[in-house]
This record gives sequence, C-alpha cells and structure tokens, in this order.
Amino acid sequence: MTFTKYSKIACSVAMACALGACNPTAPVETTATGQQQIVTLPPQNTGMDQFISGLISKMTLEEKVGQLHLLSSDWDKTGPTLSVDYQQQIKAGKVGAVFNAYTANFTRELQKLAVEQTRLGIPLLFGYDVIHGHRTIFPISLGEAASWDLQSIQAGARVAATEASAEGIHWTFAPMVDISRDPRWGRISEGSGEDVYLSIEIAKARVHGFQGDDLTATDTVLACAKHYAAYGQAQAGRDYHSTDMSERELWETYLPPFKASVDAGVASFMTAFNDLNGVPATANNYLLQDILRQRWGFSGFVVTDYTSINELVPHGLAEDLPHAGQLALNAGVDMDMQGAVYSKHLPELLKAGKVSEAQIDKAVRRILEMKYKLGLFEDPYRYSDEQRQAEQVYKAEHLAAARDGARKSFVLLKNDNKVLPLSPTQSIALIGPLADSKADMIGSWSAAGDRSSKPVTLREALVARLGADTQIHYAKGAGYEFTDTDQSGFAEAIAAAKKADVILLAMGEKWDMTGEAASRVDLGFPGTQDALMQELKKLDKPMVLVLMSGRPMTINWADEHLDSILHTWYAGTQGGHAIADVLYGDYNPAGKLPVTFPRHVGQIPIYYNMKNTGRPYEPEGPEQKYRSRYLDSSNQPLYPFGYGLSYTSFAYSAVTLSSTQLKPEGEITASVTLTNTGDRAGEEVVQLYIQDKTASVTRPVRELKGFQKIMLGKGESKTVQFRIKATDLAFYNLGMDYVAEAGEFNLFIGNDSSTSNKAAFWLTDSVQLQSAMAITQPQSKGIQ
Ligand code: NOJ
Repeated sequence: MTFTKYSKIACSVAMACALGACNPTAPVETTATGQQQIVTLPPQNTGMDQFISGLISKMTLEEKVGQLHLLSSDWDKTGPTLSVDYQQQIKAGKVGAVFNAYTANFTRELQKLAVEQTRLGIPLLFGYDVIHGHRTIFPISLGEAASWDLQSIQAGARVAATEASAEGIHWTFAPMVDISRDPRWGRISEGSGEDVYLSIEIAKARVHGFQGDDLTATDTVLACAKHYAAYGQAQAGRDYHSTDMSERELWETYLPPFKASVDAGVASFMTAFNDLNGVPATANNYLLQDILRQRWGFSGFVVTDYTSINELVPHGLAEDLPHAGQLALNAGVDMDMQGAVYSKHLPELLKAGKVSEAQIDKAVRRILEMKYKLGLFEDPYRYSDEQRQAEQVYKAEHLAAARDGARKSFVLLKNDNKVLPLSPTQSIALIGPLADSKADMIGSWSAAGDRSSKPVTLREALVARLGADTQIHYAKGAGYEFTDTDQSGFAEAIAAAKKADVILLAMGEKWDMTGEAASRVDLGFPGTQDALMQELKKLDKPMVLVLMSGRPMTINWADEHLDSILHTWYAGTQGGHAIADVLYGDYNPAGKLPVTFPRHVGQIPIYYNMKNTGRPYEPEGPEQKYRSRYLDSSNQPLYPFGYGLSYTSFAYSAVTLSSTQLKPEGEITASVTLTNTGDRAGEEVVQLYIQDKTASVTRPVRELKGFQKIMLGKGESKTVQFRIKATDLAFYNLGMDYVAEAGEFNLFIGNDSSTSNKAAFWLTDSVQLQSAMAITQPQSKGIQ
C-alpha cells in the first residue's frame, strides 16, 4: 500500500475517532512549522453548512482565492492559452478546479497533489466539455435536437455522464442552451436550434441526464448551463461578437432555456464571452445578480468562460486586469476559468477595499458546497475508478444508444421517386470527402472521443452491411477545404459513378468548420464538392446526398437536382452504421429540423416565429412592390423549422377544439387524427403552434407550444390531443408584465411550422402571470 499524506492523516483521524471527536474526512492543516493537524470540523452528520463554515473559517485568503481558480491541464486545449505550471499551482493550493484532464489515473494523480500536498487537502473539482458524449460520441447537440426525442436526448446525456464520471470527471460544461437563429455562427451546432419551447424541453432533459437524481452517485456529474446570456445572437454570426437586443427579446427568446435549467436544478452557470447591451456578460450585474440570483433563486456557482474576466479589458470595460477581477467578482462571478485574474489580484483588491471578504467567502462556499454534494470530502478519489472506467467506456450498450440516437437525429429533406430506401441489389458509387473520414464523424466538442480509430465511417458501415452482395465503388472525388480547387479526383469519381446504379454522395462541411470560432459567411459546400456534384448529375443516375454539417447550409442546387437528401449532422462514433440503417430502410427516419434552412445567406436571420410586419408579402396580393420582400429571392426558407420527411406518409384531420372559449383558469383540448397513409410503420412529430392575433405588443406569426412523437403502423390512426391553458399564451407586454391577453388566437397542428391546418379560439379574460418589477428595475447598482 502506498501511504499518501491523506492515508497518514487517516491514522491521526483514527486516534481522534477513538477519542470521540472523529471526522474521518476532515481536511488537515499544515502549521507554519510543517506539522500536520486535523482541522477541527463539526462531525460529518452535522450537515453541509456547518462543515463548510468550519472549513472556511480555517482558510487563509490565498486558500480561498485558490478555490475560485479553474485551470486547464495540458491534455486538451479549448482556448487560446495554456498554463505550463498548473501542477505546481495545484500543489501550492492555488487551484480549486481543473478542466481538460481525464482518465481515472490522471485525475487521481492530480487529485493527490491537491489532497496530499496542500495544507487543507481540499479536493479538486474536475470539469470537461462533455457535450455530446465522453468517449462514446453521440450526434452533435443540434442533431440530437432534430430527434425531438427527449427521452433519447436524456439517455445520451446519461451515457456521457456515466463514462465521464468513471474517468474522474465531476462536472460537464453542458448543456449549451443558447438559442441561435444565425447559421453563420459555428456554435449553432452546440445548441438546440432556434426555438424557445424546444430548447427549454431539451435543456431540462440534458440537465436531468447529466445530473441524474443524486449528485452523490458516482455516475452523475454537475451540469452547467452556458453561455449566459444571449451569446447565440452574436452580430453578423461572427463568434464572440457583441449582442444588442430589447428586454423583450432577451426575456422571451434568450433567457427561457436558462431559467428552465435553473428549475431543473442545474448546478452551475457559465458566463458568455459577449457584451450584452453594453455590458459584457462576465461583469453583468443585471444578468448575474438581479435575474439569476434574485429573481430565479439560483444557488449553484457561476464560472466564467475561458479567460472571460481578462477579456473585460479588450471589451473596453475594465482598465486593467485587477479592475476586471473587481468587476467580475462584484457582478457575482464565482470561478475564474483559466484567466488567473482572481488568483493574482483578489488579495490586493481586498486590501484596497475594492472587493469584500464576504463576497469572496460566498463564492468559495458555493464551490465547496458542490464538492461536498459530490461526496469529495468523503472520498476525493471516488470518481477516479480504473475498474469502472474499464467497464463503462465504449460499453456495448453505450454504442447501441449512440447508434439509436444517431438514427433518430437524421432528417430526410427530400426523397423524390422514393429513391430511398436503397435496395441491397443496387450497386452504388459512394463519393465524397465525408464518405470515409473517421475524423469527421464525431464533429466538434467531442470530449475524449477517439477521432482516428473508433468512429465508423459510412464506407465501413456499407461494406460491413452489404458484404459481397452489393458492389460499392468508392472515390473521394472532391476536396472540402475552403482552399481546395483541385479537380483531379473527379475522373475517378465519374468512373465509379458510371459503374453504379445509384450515386451516393457524402458531402458537407469538415468537422472543424462548426463549433467555436468557426463562423462562415458562405453556407454553401466548401471546396470542389459542388462542382463534382454537378459533373455527376450529367450521368443522369439516381443521386442521393448524405449531408453532414453542424449548421443549416444553403443547398439550393442539391435540393433542385438531386433525388434524395438525408441530413445526418455529425452522427457520432456509430454514425456510419446509423446512416446505413436509414439508407437501407431498417430505420424509418423521423427527425425534424430544429432550425430553419435559408435559401440564401442574405435571408439571415431567418426563423419561423418572426413578426408579420405591416406589409407582409402576399404573393397573390394586388400590389407586389411595397411589400416586405426581396427582389432576388423568395422570403420562404428552403426548409422550414420542424420539417422532415419519412419513408411513409401521414395525413392530418382538421383540428377540432373542445371549446372555442378558454377561461383564464380553464383549459381547452385541441385534437387531430393522424393517419399513417403510407406503406410502412413510421413516427411523426405532431407539432402545435399558436398565434396571438392581436395584442398590446406585436406577436410572432406563430410559436411552437407543444409536440408529440407518435409511432403508427401502416394504415393506423391515432387521435393526438394537446391541452391549452392561459399560461401557454403569455408574453411580456409593454410594461414587461408577463400576461395572457384576452382575444382571438389561431392554433395550428401539423407536420412542420408552415402548416395551415388551423382552428381559432378566444381567451375570455386577460391574466397577469408575473409582474415586471424585478425585470425592469434592476436591484443592483450596475457596474461596480
Ligand atoms: C470556451 C467555450 O466557449 C466553452 O463553451 C467551453 O466550455 C470552454 N471554452 C472550456 O473548454
């Protein structure tokens, strides 16, 4: 047995226990002369508050500030800087949490430095970007959102937490709950798309999936709602750019998924990089104090994004780093990610009276509370478990869940002449840079997921599935880098296509063209892919596109000229198998777009729940010119929000209502009968949208208010019902009260956001659900 400092202390503790003053998990102090002492803490069962108060009372200022410091290890680089001496800093008690470190071994090794070599032995918290899987990678988050399958999304987060926690991770920097309506922004791939209702439901599913019911369980991790707030509206789609919006827009569109995360019990929040209405999120009292703490009652801790405190200087808000630290702490930021501003400057700021010790203690307490809740004071190594790691990582059930999650995420965008599903008797030409690229399958933010051997490519999956029965003629053909112009691979691709019955293209974006710092101005196919597609079209053969991307792309030519298009996002470790399952009809696709696909970049931002304007464009109307429209494009998207086809077809009956009068305390039921009119079983996401026709402020043309995913056998019918209450109709009025106003509403039920299947009802009286006081009159004194 290796005697660690911790286990040596255990001997002293044993003695103390014998004397009846035992707390085996008590931190230890090293006195100035180097002697170790047991810190006198309340007995273990006297509760967290007392335990932490006792601990804080023993901490020096430097030790407290250390707890607020999150540093990256050198195992991964997820931002611009790395600290070479992070291990030294851990040993010096200057670090409370570490990210980008994983495996049972490595986290144990680092934990030992904190537990055995620092005076109080306070355990480290290990964080990591476990976004869509840890080792077993699921589809990117936007892809998962396209499943509209909350159970599957929650199950994916559960698997991720199980694998990550077995490798020593306590805390994931997920879910990312930023709404975005701008596909130029590469990080649209990390969220749940453009819609508030769908994003709320998914945020809750992910928080529950990561955190489970019990944080002390060793297979759960703390979740983190990020990036607070409004990061998804980065101007011009350029990452890190400023956001500026009305209070109404902030409260109605960007804040609700964060509020839902708080309600779901999320343990932490991450501040965003962006400036919001003139105040960067990391120094934003209004966001962090007035809304998050006071109005929503959030009691977890707040971490910055990567060096966000430092960035208050280039933002032009802070004069220098000490000033930046002062602004952040006073705004309510508890933990500094990678910036080292707190660790370097809080002591001097305290001395100068610019921050208070009470504020520092509050931040320390929030962080220690989470360590306590995870059980780290009982056993700092409980998550670093080699055996559990060996059992859990890439476990067969996890791979099966990832394959299933991937199939559910695919969206069939086009399928003329039922070219899909394919038959194994058809020979295929598999062409494109994404057909056999392992690295691309798992997309960005793929945590510890292996990018070079584990992912199953489409080519591998087809070979495994079809064996010698089907001829597969493969050629990469085109390049997908922005700089690719070389067309020398075309001849091989054309030759392959000539030999085949069907041309199967695997094209789209390279994996690192989406995610952080991956904004684009052109959403077409990069490189020579378009040109190759057009050459192949000349062969006049059935053409199927398997599209891989982390954002909506402008694919007008493909939509017009190809027979079938299946959007598969970045499908994860089992992606190739999942795509093959759908291409050959073992799985009937049911995904629906969580985000609108524009025809042109010039239409952005384009989203389904926009306002009508005073001059809505009516193609059939008498006057065309003075209307809200483009001269050189339709207003319509290429594919609307909620859109997605199936190999079967569904018919919707007209909408019926239990009553056309909704009373403030009552509810009405809206029903449709859904019938599977095609030739195979399939699932349909039945979507409910509501429009407030006239209100005291203008309202969107419609808003998603419910959905149900229904499986129907061939020829089967089912009545699908939605209950509607006044709360479903509420919005922020001019005074920012949250109200449902009496009047007429249109209610739509159908297969996507463009459905015209509607009925009308009336809310008989107005209802005020919340008053605006805390919203419009910030309690904080602004920037301090
Ligand atoms: C920067 C990203 O914005 C954030 O999402 C991520 O969690 C951190 N880096 C840590 O890697």
